[in-house]
Amino acid sequence: MNETDPIALFLDARARAVAAGSPFDGTAAVLATASLDAAPSVRWVLVKEVGPEGFHVYTSYGSRKAAELEQNPRAALAMHWPEIGEQYRVEGPVERASAERSDAYFASRPRESQIGAWASPQSQPIASRDDLLARVRELEARFEGSPVPRPPEWGGFVLRPLRIERWVNGAARLHDRWVFERQGDGPWKVSRLAP
Ligand SMILES: Cc1cc2nc3c(=O)[nH]c(=O)nc-3n(C[C@H](O)[C@H](O)[C@H](O)COP(=O)(O)O)c2cc1C
Repeated sequence: MNETDPIALFLDARARAVAAGSPFDGTAAVLATASLDAAPSVRWVLVKEVGPEGFHVYTSYGSRKAAELEQNPRAALAMHWPEIGEQYRVEGPVERASAERSDAYFASRPRESQIGAWASPQSQPIASRDDLLARVRELEARFEGSPVPRPPEWGGFVLRPLRIERWVNGAARLHDRWVFERQGDGPWKVSRLAP
């Protein structure tokens, strides 16, 4: 394990959390965005792909989070795995994932989730649950017998981390905290923070 590479540390911690029974395969995270006038908002998401290129989240490009990310393309993620007593915080600029990457992830999803992505104008007002279910039935009929393509209004964002903090629960409030920071694709600089 390379202790100076926070992505490798993150992936190792997530694997330990999954082995210890973490729900959602350890992918659940809180995503913070901010509007142009700096009002923050948060919501849970699943961070499905993590690697040197960043942290990938998939959503509707018509959603509130997407509108905020387009206007103010910076975000923060927080993951907590109580099973292993670790928290990670990730911050950095965000951009849309490539269409190829979004296509590949969409294709890997269960068919009912694919239909759901077409049916739901995420974050927009809708008249009723019945209207939503009627839309699902229409779309099931429309795509019957063929693969469901990715809706143009649905896809990924990738957060390119410039700051990652690892927090490890300790006795008597004496937790361990390390912050990893870098400029662009430069090397990570590590410091220990007081808990
Ligand atoms: C555990 C959990 C995981 C979720 N994962 C996602 C996700 O990966 N993508 C997504 O768009 N919404 C996900 N949601 C729903 C979001 O929390 C949120 O309700 C939705 O994205 C609309 O948020 P917005 O209006 O701020 O854009 C998840 C909710 C929970 C509780």
